Amino acid sequence: MLSAHSTMAAALACVALSVAPVTATSYSMVKEYYGSSFFNDWTFYNNYDNLTNGDVVYVSAGNASAYQLAYVDTTTNHAIIKVDNTSTVVYDNKRNSVRIASSDSYAVGSLWVADIYHAPYGCSVWPAWWSQAALWPQGGEIDTFEGINTDTQNQMSLHTETGCTAVSQNQTSTLVASTNCSYAANSDQGCIVTDPSTGSYGAGFASAGGGAFVTEMASTGISIWFFPRSSIPSSLSNNGSTIDTSSFGIPVANWPSTGCNIEQFFQPQNLIFDITLCGDWADGATWNSTCSGICYNNWVMGNGTDYNNAYFEVGYVRVFSTAGTNTVVSATTSGSGSSPTTSTTSSSSAAGLPHDGFWMAATILVVVGFFSSALFRLA
Ligand SMILES: *[C@@H]1O[C@H](CO)[C@@H](O)[C@H](O)[C@H]1NC(C)=O
Ligand SMILES: *[C@@H]1O[C@H](CO)[C@@H](O)[C@H](O)[C@H]1NC(C)=O
Ligand SMILES: *[C@@H]1O[C@H](CO)[C@@H](O)[C@H](O)[C@H]1NC(C)=O
Ligand SMILES: *[C@@H]1O[C@H](CO)[C@@H](O)[C@H](O)[C@H]1NC(C)=O
Ligand SMILES: *[C@@H]1O[C@H](CO)[C@@H](O)[C@H](O)[C@H]1NC(C)=O
Ligand SMILES: *[C@@H]1O[C@H](CO)[C@@H](O)[C@H](O)[C@H]1NC(C)=O
Ligand SMILES: *[C@@H]1O[C@H](CO)[C@@H](O)[C@H](O)[C@H]1NC(C)=O
Ligand SMILES: *[C@@H]1O[C@H](CO)[C@@H](O)[C@H](O)[C@H]1NC(C)=O
Repeated sequence: MLSAHSTMAAALACVALSVAPVTATSYSMVKEYYGSSFFNDWTFYNNYDNLTNGDVVYVSAGNASAYQLAYVDTTTNHAIIKVDNTSTVVYDNKRNSVRIASSDSYAVGSLWVADIYHAPYGCSVWPAWWSQAALWPQGGEIDTFEGINTDTQNQMSLHTETGCTAVSQNQTSTLVASTNCSYAANSDQGCIVTDPSTGSYGAGFASAGGGAFVTEMASTGISIWFFPRSSIPSSLSNNGSTIDTSSFGIPVANWPSTGCNIEQFFQPQNLIFDITLCGDWADGATWNSTCSGICYNNWVMGNGTDYNNAYFEVGYVRVFSTAGTNTVVSATTSGSGSSPTTSTTSSSSAAGLPHDGFWMAATILVVVGFFSSALFRLA
């Protein structure tokens, strides 16, 4: 027989569950990657790029530190993640670079902020700040920041199982390239929104000192805001422990739950920074429209001075959870919830599965998709 106490608790839990999604604009910080501890709690890929066929070796944590490819600049406290621009690469060798994925993953109800002062750009360069679940495409993918070569506009996208589409997007961008988020549609280009600002990627982004990207993964929808350095709202720049998305205005990209059941299509996300060179997208059908020569021979090979701009400079990454919840799924406890106070129904999918194997295959599909769709458009 239920006690009055537990009945009351159950009733309160029901109220909390039914109300939370509607008022989910206030978030509390649950994780910060900053300063001397920035590189704690990431996994370095430590293998050549067998994901997107780029001409890089993603180094181990030890070599990233030894070769100064991932380090904290002690004068600024900013994290640097870069392509090797000091070694001479001879024919058939790859150039060193970095790919890191957060050890923790973050469930629906999370919001993450990346304060980026500089991002890689230039011919052959293909960086991304994005996230992906352990299982792909089942757990979804959110691409917050991505571009290639001499691009000037950031391309944002979701990749999911079939059934998630972009409808009624309440966003500032009018550049919607595709609305079917299914990996099986349009050669898996995802549901793409391009940032109209030519300062959202590339040389313009870097010269303006970059800016802050906010990615909100709410049950009501996924949204991305980009604030150039000169207009980062004080609610972000004040380094507060809470933030409220209602002060951010309309996002640049938005995928409401009316077209995509976020709880169904998105599992806890690992946050990822990577920089590859050439590969399926950068050395794809659009290479010759902005860059010259052969991507590998004329850019990757040689003394590396082509890559003086191929680095991320990151002020911080901070992750927030909907007020009163904890959406962190820690690497050691994934599958069973992260703490007694968690309100997240964490999935049982992450523990013990060959994470990389699944998403490597997935990423190849993604990239082949971009390549194929570009070819398709040309045809
Ligand atoms: C570090 O780099 C050296 C030289 O390139 C290489 O021999 C070694 O295997 C690398 N170590 C790891 C752990 O990747
Ligand atoms: C999205 O693409 C998938 C795979 O091709 C297809 O089954 C589905 O019907 C498409 N959705 C819409 C809304 O067109
Ligand atoms: C933000 O504040 C926290 C807590 O006071 C502090 O540990 C952290 O270093 C600050 N982060 C930044 C980016 O200043
Ligand atoms: C779009 O988003 C803004 C900012 O959150 C909100 O004020 C407005 O009501 C939304 N518009 C629609 C049509 O939902
Ligand atoms: C670009 O043009 C060069 C020279 O014509 C050619 O060898 C190369 O295959 C082209 N690259 C792509 C990706 O089409
Ligand atoms: C690097 O190689 C480029 C192209 O071959 C050359 O123009 C440049 O002078 C070289 N720089 C250094 C520092 O050796
Ligand atoms: C490599 O790039 C960094 C900026 O990322 C620059 O400060 C440095 O001078 C470059 N190294 C060489 C040898 O050009
Ligand atoms: C990439 O290489 C790693 C390490 O050898 C391997 O575990 C993984 O299966 C490979 N992935 C793909 C897609 O080939």
